[in-house]
Amino acid sequence: MAEKKNSRARRPANKLWGGRFGAGPAAAMERINASIGFDQRLWPQDIAASAAHCRMLMAQKIIPAKDGRAILKGLRAVAKEIESGRFKFRAALEDIHMNVEARLTALIGDAGGRLHTARSRNDQVATDFRLWVRDAIDGIDAGLESLQAALIGRAEEHAATLMPGFTHLQTAQPVTLGHHLLAYVEMFGRDRGRLADARARLNECPLGAAALAGTSFPIDRRATAKELGFDRPMANSLDAVSDRDFALEFLAAAAIAASHLSRLAEELVIWSSERFAFIRLSDAFSTGSSIMPQKRNPDGAELVRAKTGRVMGAMAGLMVVMKGLPLAYSKDMQEDKEPVFEAADTLALCVEVMDGMVSDMTVDAQAMKAAADGAYATATDLADWLVREAGLTFRQAHGVSGRIVRLAEDKGLKLDALELAAMRKIEPKITKDVFAVLGAQRSAASRVSQGGTAPRRVRAAVTAARKRYLGGSKVGQRKR
Ligand code: ARG
Repeated sequence: MAEKKNSRARRPANKLWGGRFGAGPAAAMERINASIGFDQRLWPQDIAASAAHCRMLMAQKIIPAKDGRAILKGLRAVAKEIESGRFKFRAALEDIHMNVEARLTALIGDAGGRLHTARSRNDQVATDFRLWVRDAIDGIDAGLESLQAALIGRAEEHAATLMPGFTHLQTAQPVTLGHHLLAYVEMFGRDRGRLADARARLNECPLGAAALAGTSFPIDRRATAKELGFDRPMANSLDAVSDRDFALEFLAAAAIAASHLSRLAEELVIWSSERFAFIRLSDAFSTGSSIMPQKRNPDGAELVRAKTGRVMGAMAGLMVVMKGLPLAYSKDMQEDKEPVFEAADTLALCVEVMDGMVSDMTVDAQAMKAAADGAYATATDLADWLVREAGLTFRQAHGVSGRIVRLAEDKGLKLDALELAAMRKIEPKITKDVFAVLGAQRSAASRVSQGGTAPRRVRAAVTAARKRYLGGSKVGQRKR
């Protein structure tokens, strides 16, 4: 008779915790329990945290110096094996922590068994994961800074390039392309601020919380925290092993950043469409169609827009995992890693692709200007002129301007192509001076209020943005 699928008759109990077990897990249990398939990414953090823990145990004379030295040497050897791809990760050993420890003990013998003194996988994984998220934040921050640099460069180049500004995706008022691009620089600046805030709050060390209650060994938590670059040990051992708010905060910041990327991606899709033809994406960031030879598809932008779904999904997923868990650790929390890895990888890729698309795109300034000149984008300028020069209230001026737009529309003319006499029939106070404000260029140039779209404002904003956002400052160290 065939062996039952879930038989555990011949599966040995786990060597690291199997003391009280007579038999090993069912195959399906091993599969649902093991995290090594994804948490092997934590190996550099796991080894660094173990080395810090070991040095502290030695300094506190909790383990013999000789064994401590053997552990440190062994950890370096394990790291080399993993780095070179020689390491055999084993699902039977569940996770990265037990894979490393088992290999360490195989290499150096019993001394390896002292490493887990005064620690638990619960504080170990919380420490490793904080270190990983911290690195991910630094990487994404650098990517966002590079994207900001690209946007600022293009904004400088196009400080005076006119385009229609939209509300409801209907032509509203002329703006400059530089101004439009700088709007995203501000958004990505706030995204970096959110990541920096998350980083500052996550930078406390859980190590030493042990399983949940702390330990009776005379450990030095300040020493391990310091060695690992944390600002301080976490204050409460139960909190240290059982919250993942740092991961949620990262995911929330990532989801918001992804939504900004998605909006910019959507604009690139619109602008590169044949109907708009404001920009052309480079060959490097476009794809063709397998059937329609004429096509140039903005797949890069579309995928940035779509991948936002993954990042938002990751945030929602982990929120649900965490919301009902009693203190302290529950295995549910092992499900924290995949969404964070997925969101971090996705966001980093999207930032890089956006950086490339923005840097490479060619702008058709002529097409943008033509669109800004049409569609009565200067109707507000006409109303403002009537207020300023003819003494109308804004509401009266709005009505007059609206009637003039209707007249122009009926005649199929642009506003500045209307005859003065025709406008004066609607409002006798209008003089020939009005023509000065009816062109898109004058309109944009007149919007000099702080934060406005006038080219000279944009040039000043470019300088300010360079100073404020660029310069390679590490998020964690940046003064806020
Ligand atoms: N692989 C586990 C995780 O990622 C490590 C912690 C296991 N702790 C435990 N008490 N079983 O959450």
